[in-house]
Amino acid sequence: MTVLHPKLKAICPVAQLQQQPFTTRNITLKNQPASALVFWFDGSAYSYVNHCMHMHRPLNCEQDAIFDETGNYLRCSMHGFIFDPKTGECQSPVCLGQRLQALRLQEHEGMLYFAEKHLTLLD
Ligand code: FES
Repeated sequence: MTVLHPKLKAICPVAQLQQQPFTTRNITLKNQPASALVFWFDGSAYSYVNHCMHMHRPLNCEQDAIFDETGNYLRCSMHGFIFDPKTGECQSPVCLGQRLQALRLQEHEGMLYFAEKHLTLLD
């Protein structure tokens, strides 16, 4: 039997994440308050700090959505910048090559956890 590391923070069951477009969690990262985006894409779970590098807004600030109409790219609802869901890399000219900050995840027995050392889960 695998023993879970005590620093892992439970997010939700993987099956639950697979059935919703995304979820968010309030966290602190290195003692700074932040929001985390968590979503299922192309067979895997991904998480990023919910902070667009363009004008420092959450991707879902204007709309309760984080994907563009194709479902292939993350899209900030403020000015429409798009990001690669697998790398967080911005595909829009102004921020081309910059990346959303990725958060490490771990799956264990159907449950999804944050596996970041300096992350505290607030809700
Ligand atoms: S704040 Fe995200 S695209 Fe402008």
